[in-house]
Amino acid sequence: MSSQRPTPLKILFASSEAQPLIKTGGLADVAGSLPPALSHLGEEVRLVLPAYPTTLEQARELTPVSSLRIGAYPGEITIHQGTLEEGVTLYLVEIPGMFDRPGNPYVDGQGNNWPDNAQRFAAFCRVVANIALGQAGLKWLPEIVHCNDWQTGLVPALITGEGNRPASIFTIHNMAYQGVFDRITFDQLQLPPALWSMEGLEFHNNFSFLKGGLAFADWITTVSPTYAGEILTPAFGYGLDGLLEYRKSRLTGVLNGIDYRVWDPAGDPAIAQPYDAQTLKLKAINKQHLQQELGLPRQPEALLIGNIGRLVEQKGVDLILDILPGLMHKENLQVAILGSGDPELERRLTAMADAHPGKIAVHIGYDEALAHRIEAGCDCFLMPSRFEPCGLNQLYSLRYGTVPIVNRTGGLADTVVDATPRNLLEGTATGFVFDRPQPPALWDCLERVIEFWNRPAMWWEKLVLAGMRQDFSWDSSAQHYRDIYHRAIDNPAPSPVARKDD
Ligand code: ADP
Ligand code: GLC
Repeated sequence: MSSQRPTPLKILFASSEAQPLIKTGGLADVAGSLPPALSHLGEEVRLVLPAYPTTLEQARELTPVSSLRIGAYPGEITIHQGTLEEGVTLYLVEIPGMFDRPGNPYVDGQGNNWPDNAQRFAAFCRVVANIALGQAGLKWLPEIVHCNDWQTGLVPALITGEGNRPASIFTIHNMAYQGVFDRITFDQLQLPPALWSMEGLEFHNNFSFLKGGLAFADWITTVSPTYAGEILTPAFGYGLDGLLEYRKSRLTGVLNGIDYRVWDPAGDPAIAQPYDAQTLKLKAINKQHLQQELGLPRQPEALLIGNIGRLVEQKGVDLILDILPGLMHKENLQVAILGSGDPELERRLTAMADAHPGKIAVHIGYDEALAHRIEAGCDCFLMPSRFEPCGLNQLYSLRYGTVPIVNRTGGLADTVVDATPRNLLEGTATGFVFDRPQPPALWDCLERVIEFWNRPAMWWEKLVLAGMRQDFSWDSSAQHYRDIYHRAIDNPAPSPVARKDD
């Protein structure tokens, strides 16, 4: 534990998305709620994001506070200052030609990566590095720069070796996305040549933004203790497990918290009927409304299983598709799925819903309010992820009394306690956990769930109430980050490259 300081820590928190301004997945939930939690602890946090059009429209009280030019980029960059919420200053970085385009931050309308993603996020990293070094005209010098995922991975590399630099923290939300580009791009970006080395950004003759974070940060974190162990193995490390093993004395798993101001069934404006553990019976009204909304028969006795998420291989949606036909032979069972992503998975899900009207409802798209209604209206929530760095929907499900069914991996393993006879007796069971992301294991687990659902209702209620009692608020995780910030300040990592010549 480090000593408490009399003055707040100055933290620059860099992310490519943050709730409520721009969101594609859980990174946005974290970037929108960890900075306020740190501010709550008394620290001074400033969040920096790219200025996407919707972000500029929605942010509060924006004022342009600085303009700058950066080496490789034509045009003037503008930093706008606003407020994320009380206590958290927001910087939006407007870079001509880079972020002023509609839609998703990373992909075009067809789901393909924007072809200039390297240029876009390298430019963003350059500006963040300038802010971190007090060279962006903001008259503010952070002690910590906290980077998240590959889009901010170059920042620790760009500030390495600089005198008076802040300590850098890099949080891995997902090792599967690395930001790998070729040598020509590296040269075009005019990055410091010394960064092109095995100890630096070079990765199998290409270069990797993610590696910038992993090789150069003073401290690396990831979003659950189990995932922190998994990424040291070839199966989860995507070729970077060796580097992580080498740096593991500076690698910590910190479980994400969730924002109970946004995800609270007792005060959720998106749901039909508020409820809590004391008024659990009212949850059934949300189930009725959801069934009606999704065109499912209003059957209280049907076990309603929900799933929400990005439709990608990680989430194991194909495993759900594999077992759905068999599940359709079960009585009193309904399925509600909300997601978007891989067009083939979207097509297969839609076809499945068409083949089983009244039993399977599929909504393709991104719908925040419907996500809340699914959490409130379902009896259980299925997450058969092949890997899951943390996962937030199982945590929302626990709070909403919606029993999670999860594969034992990453944050899912750390947050859901399987309903074994012993755990049930001890009152610690909160969900159902299976051991292998394969259809037979998922099937066996669902048989177990169905058997449990058909027991006297008190059993299900016991499981639900144990889940609702869990506390995954940000308080303790934010304190953990604060300790890591102090450790990083006290133990700066030596630069892995000899010289960073600009
Ligand atoms: P990941 O970050 O890998 O996508 P998480 O479980 O950490 O997974 O977080 C996903 C977040 O995105 C949750 O808040 C979830 O509700 C939300 N989400 C994902 N897909 C959708 C969708 N189609 N509509 C609404 N919300 C979605
Ligand atoms: C990632 C992970 C998810 C995690 C989220 C927030 O996108 O896939 O497991 O919850 O980031 O950290």
